[in-house]
Amino acid sequence: MKDRYILAFETSCDETSVAVLKNDDQLLSNVIASQIESHKRFGGVVPEVASRHHVEVITACIEEALEEAGITEADVTAVAVTYGPGLVGALLVGLAAAKAFAWAHGLPLIPVNHMAGHLMAAQSVPLEFPLLALLVSGGHTELVYVSEAGDYKIVGETRDDAVGEAYDKVGRVMGLTYPAGREIDQLAHQGDDIYDFPRAMIKEDNLEFSFSGLKSAFINLHHNAQQKGESLSNADLSASFQAAVLDILMAKTKKALEKYPVKTLVVAGGVAANQGLRERLASEITDVKVIIPPLRLCGDNAGMIAYASVSEWNKENFAGWDLNAKPSLAFEGIE
Ligand code: KG4
Ligand code: ZN
Repeated sequence: MKDRYILAFETSCDETSVAVLKNDDQLLSNVIASQIESHKRFGGVVPEVASRHHVEVITACIEEALEEAGITEADVTAVAVTYGPGLVGALLVGLAAAKAFAWAHGLPLIPVNHMAGHLMAAQSVPLEFPLLALLVSGGHTELVYVSEAGDYKIVGETRDDAVGEAYDKVGRVMGLTYPAGREIDQLAHQGDDIYDFPRAMIKEDNLEFSFSGLKSAFINLHHNAQQKGESLSNADLSASFQAAVLDILMAKTKKALEKYPVKTLVVAGGVAANQGLRERLASEITDVKVIIPPLRLCGDNAGMIAYASVSEWNKENFAGWDLNAKPSLAFEGIE
């Protein structure tokens, strides 16, 4: 059979990324151009700046991805692209580039949901279905039931902030640079859990999350201390915040595993890079196989989009040239 080479594009937020996947499982290249330096001084991603950066670097990313993979444009057999969720202007840059490439070479265009990408980044090891996934990123916190590759159903999600968003907001209050998740994780390992932050809905018998109360409690504590001229230790604040976050994530994940008894749990998305979360999963979830993508595939990257496109390609779920960005694209709920 002829070799299959998928050229995948990811531009939903602040990473411009292009990857090449050979024969469904060999990731030959995964070029990631991060714009974080440009957004740091604003304390978050500025959509207009993000779109402009994507335009500037996307062509170079395509060339580099092909070169690193050791193939030419003519070898590519399909094009995959993130069409949502994400920032509309940012998504449109990847869509325009992917469509132009596919059209010029007469190739099928495969539309991919960014969250399916995060989940299928775990495909770097073979997955067994059905499985449950805990997806934790800057924009999402959700539990997803996956009966087979390509069939994703939400069984629980956050009512307000995403967990990564909460990390970034409390990081800003502590004066850390954006995105703060990684630094808070490191600080948490140096401090003590001495502040009793709320663990919203932890005892409730549902699979919903809420992080806005935790964020407000953190901000209030910090603000009150500042007004009294006291300075709190960022390490202890981080340890206490992270302990609350992990208690919530672990409790809801365990509840989901009780309700949907599967043999595999995937934990993915930017926050899956969290060392504290990895430690708790390893010590507390022992009767289910836990798969976490390698660190380089946890953050936004086109490799995960390529992996997620395989099942869509097999179903011949191709898009027309009118494929548009869907900033609020979401998985369906379970019946
Ligand atoms: O998935 P991702 O790269 O982008 C989105 O699709 O949102 O996730 C980015 C988020 C940021 O909020 C960042 O602070 C968080 O992931 N993050 C972490 C860690 N590394 C990245 N949060 C907690 N602990 C980490 N080690
Ligand atoms: Zn993401």
